Amino acid sequence: MDSKYRLTKRCFSEQRIATIKVEVNTLIHTEIIEIDPSAIDMDKLAVASDILKNGGTVAFPTETVYGLGANALEETSIKKIFEAKGRPSDNPLIVHIAAVEDIKPLVADIPNHVDVLMERFWPGPLTLVFRKSSLVPPMITGGLDTVAIRMPAHPIARTLIAMAGVPVAAPSANLSGKPSPTQASHVVEDLLGRVDAIISGGSCKVGLESTVLDITGEVPMILRPGGVTKEELESVIGKVVIDRAIEGGDEKHLVPKSPGMKYTHYAPKAEVVVVEGEQQSVVSRIQQMQREKQKTGMKVGIMATDETKDKYDNAQILSVGSRERLETITNNLFRVLRAFDEIGVDIILAEAIERKGLGDAIMNRLLKAAGNHVVKADGGE
Ligand code: TXA
Ligand code: MG
Repeated sequence: MDSKYRLTKRCFSEQRIATIKVEVNTLIHTEIIEIDPSAIDMDKLAVASDILKNGGTVAFPTETVYGLGANALEETSIKKIFEAKGRPSDNPLIVHIAAVEDIKPLVADIPNHVDVLMERFWPGPLTLVFRKSSLVPPMITGGLDTVAIRMPAHPIARTLIAMAGVPVAAPSANLSGKPSPTQASHVVEDLLGRVDAIISGGSCKVGLESTVLDITGEVPMILRPGGVTKEELESVIGKVVIDRAIEGGDEKHLVPKSPGMKYTHYAPKAEVVVVEGEQQSVVSRIQQMQREKQKTGMKVGIMATDETKDKYDNAQILSVGSRERLETITNNLFRVLRAFDEIGVDIILAEAIERKGLGDAIMNRLLKAAGNHVVKADGGE
């Protein structure tokens, strides 16, 4: 038994290991490095930064979700990210930096109004899309002439990038199509045997990915809603628009400007249906659907909120957080989607959240998980 399996055995059953063995064809050794974010062990982090310097892949925690990092300036390293995740090659990667001045070699220019955004929101969950410099390999940008850059706030992420001494490309550390990982066990579940190292550094505070904001046009455009809200951005730079193609509904036929947004995403194994409408009607409609689905022998999961969870029974009921404190929902959403898979339900009936503040990002991810399957509580699909 090699050391990878010894390591895995600490957290997973034999049955789980057997599953991993069948799913992955060529396994590589994955070092699991435990680091306390409040007292970073620099020797342990040096092991991870050496792997990055030597062209390998390291999964690490950020304040949004876990990322899978590699040297952003080396095509052979970047290729390993795409392979490990099974990610389509036309989906560009975000380049992560440790300090504001690190962007200079990566971009063609920094538009005037952008300084104020970096001052206010960096480090943090905001990714900015600039026109790229020639230093950035086309494999990072999926052939686009722009590059997405983010300075994460998490101490492990920032120190790791600074120690590696190179910009670090890092998509979310999940298998392509699955919910993003918000704790190390999710990364182990998806990427063990596919990456060189996984830093286990606690759970991610924000829980949803960064907001992607394109600042190359006249009016800044949100390509992916996330941890920084439209309202927060507008309070600093005035008018901001949201790419209409990511809104779902009637705009479904438009092609999103952010390539990643066109894929089915964040999807658990179970079918997901989002039920939208006034709160009491939503509860009644979900109860009715629950009965119908159970009659056909399906195992039903209900994704409720703290305010509604006691209104349901006789199903697998998980609360995703409080409607009064949307940050609790961003924090829990992906974990709860994965938890329904662990329980093994056939269908998840999920209450919609009002699209205000963080509600934009929550609904964006939820609708993607549902493949846009929305039921109106007062009739209609
Ligand atoms: O919070 C986050 O942003 C996390 C952590 C690890 O930093 N990263 C993350 O990366 O979510 P990923 O690869 O899962 O999502 C990146 C998104 C995709 O939707 C991609 O299409 C978009 O950013 N993107 C990257 N470069 C772009 C570009 N040049 N123009 C437009 N969209 C871009
Ligand atoms: Mg992702």
